[in-house]
Amino acid sequence: MLDVKSEVAKRAEVVNEAISNYLPIKSPEGLYKATRHLINAGGKRLRPVLVLISTEALGKDWTKILPAAVAIETIHNFTLIHDDIMDRDEYRRGVSTVHKLFGEPTAILAGDTLFAEAFEILTKCEVEAKNLVKAVELLSKVCVNICEGQYLDMSFEEEKFVNEQDYIEMVKKKTAVLIAASTSLPAILFGESEKIINALWNFGLYCGIGFQIQDDVLDLVGKEKIGKDWGSDIVEGKKTLIVINAFEKGVELEIFGKGEASKEEIEKAVKKLEECGAIDYAKNKAKEYVEKAKKELDTLKDSKSKELLKAISDYLISRDY
Ligand code: IPE
Ligand code: IPE
Ligand code: MG
Ligand code: MG
Ligand code: MG
Repeated sequence: MLDVKSEVAKRAEVVNEAISNYLPIKSPEGLYKATRHLINAGGKRLRPVLVLISTEALGKDWTKILPAAVAIETIHNFTLIHDDIMDRDEYRRGVSTVHKLFGEPTAILAGDTLFAEAFEILTKCEVEAKNLVKAVELLSKVCVNICEGQYLDMSFEEEKFVNEQDYIEMVKKKTAVLIAASTSLPAILFGESEKIINALWNFGLYCGIGFQIQDDVLDLVGKEKIGKDWGSDIVEGKKTLIVINAFEKGVELEIFGKGEASKEEIEKAVKKLEECGAIDYAKNKAKEYVEKAKKELDTLKDSKSKELLKAISDYLISRDY
């Protein structure tokens, strides 16, 4: 049996060492302290670990493309810092958010700095120049998609009718494309065939949709364990798959989009969402996406790493933080 958590932890250690090499504190110290605050607070490091395991699944050695793993995690942290400003959240990874500690202007700059540093780090991959150019092109497009997705996420708060298809399109952009980049960048960097690149992209994309659905579930039921504000999606009026399904069933949530609510009020709303079956509905959808993801791996040769990718895909939607 594969122990997913220890396999992830082993590779996360390698990633963490690379992060400290590629992301030193520079001057002005005030900016860099803010820039490194979240990345030093940890996190699951799932995306860079997926870069490493996807490389292994291609039968390649990841030493030469370790910067790509760091670049992906750096972009992820940039999006989180800006996301917390947009979502008005105060905690992440068990610590105060960057804007809460350093103020919004510095948090915006910290995010921008990471965004740019990511591309500089990516260029350190020791691969053929033409493959590196393709990787830069892909990652740039992914960042544009994330902005589009984040815009949709916010604009849906104002819209009365958002359906399941709208939600899937939104999470594909805000979350799934970065996971798809994590699983497919190694194939691009090593010059694999379009067929392999596409299979690994689709694998990551479907996993990413499942991953975001689970994130939305955890916002409701995860409590303190998730290390970030919980219940904030309901209070902010986020159109998650869970509330879309509940609203279709005629459920009403008094605190939805009200900007603030007590813990008791949030718990009451979560109970309603549980009782109407909306949370189970979302969990099943996440499972469907992950099953679809796994089928994409048929294109790859059988290996222990391929089995590990499948095991991680299950973990993405069963995790409790
Ligand atoms: C959180 O991602 C942001 C989403 C896209 C839902 P993670 O749950 O991977 O966050 P960390 O990196 O472990 O903190
Ligand atoms: C975040 O989605 C997606 C990105 C950071 C692009 P959420 O807003 O649900 O992520 P959390 O729950 O704050 O981590
Ligand atoms: Mg958000
Ligand atoms: Mg958020
Ligand atoms: Mg969330």
